[in-house]
Amino acid sequence: MLDFAAPDITEADIDAVAQTLRSGWITTAGECLKLEAELASYLDVPHVVTTSSCTAAIEIAVAHLGLAPGSRVGVPTWTFVSTALSAVRAGLMPVLLDIEPETLNLSPRSLAAATDEGLDAVIGVHFGGCAMSRDVHDVCAEAGIPLVEDAAHALGATDHRGLVAGQGTAGACFSFYATKNLTCAEGGALATDSADLADFARSYRLHGLSHDAWARYHPEAPSGYDLLGPGIKGNLPDVLAALARSQLGRFAEMQARRRQVVDCYRVGLKEIPGLELVPAEADPGSADHLMVVLLPESVDRDAVVTGLAGLSWIAREAVL
Ligand SMILES: Cc1ncc(COP(=O)(O)O)c(C=O)c1O
Repeated sequence: MLDFAAPDITEADIDAVAQTLRSGWITTAGECLKLEAELASYLDVPHVVTTSSCTAAIEIAVAHLGLAPGSRVGVPTWTFVSTALSAVRAGLMPVLLDIEPETLNLSPRSLAAATDEGLDAVIGVHFGGCAMSRDVHDVCAEAGIPLVEDAAHALGATDHRGLVAGQGTAGACFSFYATKNLTCAEGGALATDSADLADFARSYRLHGLSHDAWARYHPEAPSGYDLLGPGIKGNLPDVLAALARSQLGRFAEMQARRRQVVDCYRVGLKEIPGLELVPAEADPGSADHLMVVLLPESVDRDAVVTGLAGLSWIAREAVL
């Protein structure tokens, strides 16, 4: 298949992982705590809780809403399955909402119409790294419904609030999956300005326990734990947190390089007749996770994908 997202792994990344493997503590502890503090500082948000994936972070944010079974949760039609499945797994009813063709993000008009018919929450997506419009936040605020941000594509994206970080919403959920602009193979984080949500997330990501193993390890710490409620197994191991920390240390550099590549694509792709770029003009606030093109209706998409995969093999063999 097309090498569209070969991970950017340096010797320093490998050293950081090796050091953690040698440290004697490989699961959730100091590296996670440092990553959380560093992400909170980068995002300028009071709380970041790391998780095993963005999916886990969304499930936590949805669980924190405490909605009754069958409650209606708006999700965009255009996204990855995790967005809607996080509602389904919580026993909630996903309500599919239209997107705007210009950005592929949730349409505020479609959202407003759905709130009139009754919605209990929304999970919006910052698709491809372009932040949802401010109108989505305003519609939710006006209707008094919580907005969970699926920010899987949006680490480093900015909107009217600054860097997307869950300010004033029910949490922003990031992904550090292998194809993302910051990766630790599998991982995620929940950013929020709510201490209550952050406390809930720390427990919910670890079965619902009151204390994790690291908190119990200190001499004065309590030796046991209570089960506060049913949670999930969604904590991030230190081995992966070390990789994420190493990547975060050069994130600005990686994003600057990504922007150069996107600019290059934009110039080159504009020359292909009939091809539309989404969004049509570069969004300066985008995290540039995806470079989206819309093919003319007459073109067979699958044939283009197969053709690109073939080109990738030719390029790979030339390198080998
Ligand atoms: C929009 C969107 N939401 C959620 C996810 C889930 O992320 P993760 O694999 O970290 O659970 C993805 C994954 O690619 C995604 O694209």
